[in-house]
Amino acid sequence: MVTQELKSGVSWVGAVDFDRRMFDELIPLPNGTSYNSYLIQGSEKTALIYTVDPTKEFELISNLVKLGITRIDYIIINHAEQDHSGSLPMVLELFPDATVVTNEKCRDFLSDLLHIPLERVKSIKDRETLSLGDRTLEFLITPWTHWPETQLTYLREDKILFPCDLFGAHLAQSDLFVGEEAEVYRSAKRYYAEIMMPFRSSIKGYLERVGALPLDMIAPSHGPVHRRPALMLDAYADWVSNSVRNEVVIPYVSMHGSTARMVEHLTNALVERGITVRPFNLTKTDIGELAIALVDCATIVVATPTVLFGPHPSALYATYLTNLLKPKVKFAAVIGSYGWGGKTAETLVKMLDHVKVEVLEPVTVRGAPDEVALQAIERLADDILARHKSINIT
Ligand code: FEO
Repeated sequence: MVTQELKSGVSWVGAVDFDRRMFDELIPLPNGTSYNSYLIQGSEKTALIYTVDPTKEFELISNLVKLGITRIDYIIINHAEQDHSGSLPMVLELFPDATVVTNEKCRDFLSDLLHIPLERVKSIKDRETLSLGDRTLEFLITPWTHWPETQLTYLREDKILFPCDLFGAHLAQSDLFVGEEAEVYRSAKRYYAEIMMPFRSSIKGYLERVGALPLDMIAPSHGPVHRRPALMLDAYADWVSNSVRNEVVIPYVSMHGSTARMVEHLTNALVERGITVRPFNLTKTDIGELAIALVDCATIVVATPTVLFGPHPSALYATYLTNLLKPKVKFAAVIGSYGWGGKTAETLVKMLDHVKVEVLEPVTVRGAPDEVALQAIERLADDILARHKSINIT
C-alpha cells in the first residue's frame, strides 16, 4: 500500500493485510487487518511510531525508501507484541543511528522477545516528553491496554494520539481514514470484545486521561485513523461502563436435538417477556460474534448436552473463552439434556471463576424435554426477567 499523509509531515507507512483470517491462532479476522506505522518528521528529528508484523516488513521498508528516508532518530514502541515490534530488528539494522524509545517494562519485553540490545533503547517515564524540534511527543504509560508494558504516544502540536492496540479495529481497507462509521464501530467493538474487554477496569481509568487531551485524530495500530475521536471515546465509555442491556446470550450445542429444543423454548419464553435473545450455535458461529454479544448482555445461558460425563467440548471452549474475556455479564445459567448423569452444570459454572456472575438454577433434563422440563425453562425465563428488573434494565 502506498504511503498516505495524516497531516503535513505525519505519514502512514504501514501495511494492510487483506488476506489474514486468524490472529494469535485464536481470533478470526473476517475483514483482514492492518499494521499501522507512522513517520513523524520534525524540524530536527524523525520518529517512527510502531513497526509492523514481520510478515510485512518489506512493505514498511519499501514505504520508507519511497519517502526518501535515510535517517530515523527514534523508533517509538508502544507495545512489544510482535505485530508491532516484529520488524524492529530489521529497522534497527537498516537505521543504525536509531534509538528505540519506550518504557522500562516494554524494553525488557523487547529484550526477551526480540533480543533487542538494551544499549539501543532509551527508557521513558509517564508524561515524559521527547522533542523532534518543532514537534513534541508525550508518553502516557498505560499498562494493560493489551499487555502489561503498553503505553500511548501523543503528538502535541498536531493533537494526534497513537494508542497502539487501544481504539483499534481489525479492518483492512485502502482508505487511511474512517469512512463508514457504522462499519468501523462494529469492527472496533469486535476488537474490543476479543482483545480489550479483559482489561475493562484499567481502560476505564485511562479514558479520563485521554479525554483530557486536545485531540484531532486517533491513529491506532490496527484499522483506519479517526478524524472524529468521539466515535471511539464514546463507544469505549459505553463498553467499559458497568451498564448492561436487557439481553441474554445463549451459546449452545446440540447433538440429537434435545438441547436445541430447550434453547428454542427458552428463546421464545424470553422474547415473550420482552428480553432480547442472541443464540449462537457453537458448531457454526464465528466466535468473534459471540464475543461482541458478550460486551453488553446481562445474562449468559450456556446450553449443552452431556457427553459421557461432562459438557460438550464446544460448550467448554465457549465457557473458557467467556471466562478469559471477562465480560460484565451479571447472571449465568446452564441448561441441557443428558443421557445417564454427569456433572455438566457444575463443571461449567466452576469455569466462570473470573466473571462476577450470580448463578441461576440450572435446567437439566434426561433425554428429550417433556412438559415438566419446559415448565422449568419457563421458570428460568421468569427468574431471568426478575433479575433484569432488579437491576433496572427492562
Ligand atoms: Fe496489535 Fe497486542 O498487538
